[in-house]
Amino acid sequence: MEQSILQLEDIDAGYYRREVLHSVSMNLVENRILLLVGPNGAGKSTLLKVIAGILRQWKGKVLFEGRDLDGMSAARRAGIGISYFFQGGEIFGNLTVRENLEIAITSLNGKKFEKKMGEIFKIFPKLKLMETRRAGFLSGGEKHQLALGMIFIREPKLVLLDEPSAGLSPTLVKEVLESIKKMKEQLGASVLLVEQNVKEGLKIADTVCLMKTGEIVKETSPEAIIKEGLLEKLFFE
Ligand SMILES: Nc1ncnc2c1ncn2[C@@H]1O[C@H](COP(=O)(O)OP(=O)(O)OP(=O)(O)O)[C@@H](O)[C@H]1O
Ligand SMILES: [Mg+2]
Repeated sequence: MEQSILQLEDIDAGYYRREVLHSVSMNLVENRILLLVGPNGAGKSTLLKVIAGILRQWKGKVLFEGRDLDGMSAARRAGIGISYFFQGGEIFGNLTVRENLEIAITSLNGKKFEKKMGEIFKIFPKLKLMETRRAGFLSGGEKHQLALGMIFIREPKLVLLDEPSAGLSPTLVKEVLESIKKMKEQLGASVLLVEQNVKEGLKIADTVCLMKTGEIVKETSPEAIIKEGLLEKLFFE
């Protein structure tokens, strides 16, 4: 049976008095990648902020594993398995690659930690090569991989990714998206992905939601998006 991990019910949200999201409903099935696509300003980041607990919705419900998250802080949501990669990512430049990964999970004992570290290095072989290098000296793409590694090492149940490949070269975009797919397959995570490189995003997505001016206008399969030319309609009509 398909188990739902995240359900959004009729969400309104915005900033000050301006409503940005209008009655957004969505369902993410466990261990799937849902790609959220829409033009600039559609409200994609706003929706992720609501789920992460950074912005409180005005109306409607966010259910995680059937549990209503209303009033729960972003920190507690992270604690119950929701990780959030925001536009730009987050690492500590003065620490080495290894130290960054260490602080991402402080609760594990030595042996368990080494095992986890090994899993992360399997997904991001480049990080292994740079284990003792200071994170501030990594290239843009490597920093992204480290920021993702810090998310993956916590083994979140649900990952919210806001443009994880932004600003990367085409090769690195592919690498980052491939690593997201591995996270789903090897760590069993469920993923809500916002990605401007739609063509690449479609390759790893299981489901696609199209968003326009704060509303989900369509939910469909990656294949249907390509076949029916839905993206052109979304961006140019
Ligand atoms: N902190 C804020 N205060 C006020 N308005 C905001 C704030 N953040 C976003 N907005 C507005 O909300 C609307 C939706 O923005 P949002 O960042 O969610 O769009 P997006 O779909 O993520 O766009 P992009 O593809 O450019 O990242 C935009 O009109 C934006 O100007
Ligand atoms: Mg955005």
